[in-house]
Amino acid sequence: MKFFIDSADLEAIREIKAMGMCDGVTTNPSLMAKAGRIDTDALLKEICRIVQGPVSGEVIATDADGMVAEGRRLAKIDDHMVVKVPTTYEGLKATAALAAEGIAVNCTLVFSASQALLVAKAGAAYASPFVGRLDDVSEDGMQLIADLVEIYGNYDFATEIIVASVRHPLHVVESARMGAHIATIPPEVVRKLVSHPLTDRGLAAFLADWNKLQGGN
Ligand code: G3P
Repeated sequence: MKFFIDSADLEAIREIKAMGMCDGVTTNPSLMAKAGRIDTDALLKEICRIVQGPVSGEVIATDADGMVAEGRRLAKIDDHMVVKVPTTYEGLKATAALAAEGIAVNCTLVFSASQALLVAKAGAAYASPFVGRLDDVSEDGMQLIADLVEIYGNYDFATEIIVASVRHPLHVVESARMGAHIATIPPEVVRKLVSHPLTDRGLAAFLADWNKLQGGN
């Protein structure tokens, strides 16, 4: 299973990459705003240099022609760039056009199996179903992932599933159990994945015993 980092925070990306936990990065306009850098293309270039793997940058246009033009510009930033396109009717037109030019597309804001089916048929490299936001409206986000793994597997679609809007460790563990290709994980959830109170308590006890052995109290 591949881990992408869902962030435009260079320091966090660098740290998690050094741990071997970053196979790629996904950004969106909200994450760019959080990073607070107006030179977004330069920021994406820096992320690509660190990650040396797929880095998604999102288009802002909402019409197909505008998305294609923006997608071409984003793709030129670096060989690792993936163009993120919203899963709308216009977005699917843009996806097919960009894919035909050999540009990798990540269709974002996927909330249903029907959308994901169309995304694969349009030739997207990645589909990004948002599990946390489905949970937020009392729908089962992880059920959508189970459906997509089954549907894509039935037809051997090349499109990879990026589990997105990941909010907590169970989203990641369930994604792995279901065989999703990728989870894109916020840095704070990476920290939660490793954290366990019994590890902390066990380590504290080991260190206390070691100190006693050394003659401390
Ligand atoms: O990958 C999509 C993600 O950035 C959205 O997450 O937590 O805003 O729903 P969230």
